[in-house]
Amino acid sequence: MADLELANIEKHYGAVHAVRDVSLTVQSGAFVVLVGPSGCGKSTLLRAIAGLEDITSGDIRIGGQSVTRLAPRARNVAMVFQSYALYPYLTVYENIAFGLRARGEPEQRLDERVRWAADTLSITDYLERHPRELSGGQRQRVAIGRAIVREADLYLFDEPLSNLDAKLRDGMREELKRLHARLGRTFIYVTHDQIEAMTLADRIVLLRDGMIEQDGTPLELFEEPASRFVAGFLGSPPMNMLNVRLAEAGKQIHLSQDLMLPIAGGAAPAQDGEYVWGIRPEQVRLAEAGAPALKGTVDVLQPTGSRLLATVLIGAQKLTAELDAHCGVSPGQEIALSVAISRTVFFDGEGRRVGPATAG
Ligand SMILES: Nc1ncnc2c1ncn2[C@@H]1O[C@H](COP(=O)(O)OP(=O)(O)OP(=O)(O)O)[C@@H](O)[C@H]1O
Ligand SMILES: [Mg+2]
Repeated sequence: MADLELANIEKHYGAVHAVRDVSLTVQSGAFVVLVGPSGCGKSTLLRAIAGLEDITSGDIRIGGQSVTRLAPRARNVAMVFQSYALYPYLTVYENIAFGLRARGEPEQRLDERVRWAADTLSITDYLERHPRELSGGQRQRVAIGRAIVREADLYLFDEPLSNLDAKLRDGMREELKRLHARLGRTFIYVTHDQIEAMTLADRIVLLRDGMIEQDGTPLELFEEPASRFVAGFLGSPPMNMLNVRLAEAGKQIHLSQDLMLPIAGGAAPAQDGEYVWGIRPEQVRLAEAGAPALKGTVDVLQPTGSRLLATVLIGAQKLTAELDAHCGVSPGQEIALSVAISRTVFFDGEGRRVGPATAG
């Protein structure tokens, strides 16, 4: 069953066209992450689903019923806000209980639900404290507790981890995933953080300027990006983008006048011409002696502990390679790199990905 259907959603704020013809069907129990750069319309879309923002046109259906004209309260949707939005003068218990109390939930049932939510989020010890007596991470849990205490059809999260430090964020990501499995409900999660999108989602919807740029599983977007925009957004360090010219029906890649790499037929687009060649840092290795290779000069080295990030100058272009931590290269050294070409991607002048020629 589809829990959520968005049909041709449009949102204008005066002259700003914040959401453009967004259509999306979300299956029950999914963990969908809406991701994209600042200002691309993520919060607007999420707030529209919750009913906190009127849409200019289109239809929103939850559980098969149109809710477009329903007030937020009538939508059975629970939302976690980036700013937490806790009541400072209420205890943690009363903060979590607030929505249920407002709906007239019987006291015993309310108590059960609050204690269950607190237990799920490991904040039972803090129930009698006030928000100011909590750390940022604990406040974040209370904000999530306020949402999950209700049995909603949809749980909406707007950048819930963005106020936490890096270490807490890592821990909370894991907990959110566990929480999703435990609740078995549909999560719609907004973030601009590509790591959160990759690690949490079973489906990523990548937005750009109010439109869906690509919609698919994390690995689909990572390995088969529809565009240079998607490819550059996902992955850290980011994909290398080299200007190249393909020749001989896609059997030669020219990086400059005197720098050419032969490639197996079918690995690159068959149409000769100018392309942007997308190479992820982990698709580059030090070449074996005698193998076809890109020759370059090591510019900067950044050890991460487990790997060595090497910025290599290939002619006038820069390439970041993720090498073995113990490979022993040093700045200024001339090195030869081999590229797993069949896993790399090519983009045309408009930034759209062009698939490889089919083998043969
Ligand atoms: N109330 C408003 N009035 C006018 N313009 C608005 C309003 N709210 C948002 N916008 C504009 O709509 C666009 C989308 O905003 P939105 O808040 O949805 O972006 P976002 O993707 O959530 O960004 P961020 O990652 O920075 O939170 C932006 O250009 C923003 O300036
Ligand atoms: Mg936002």
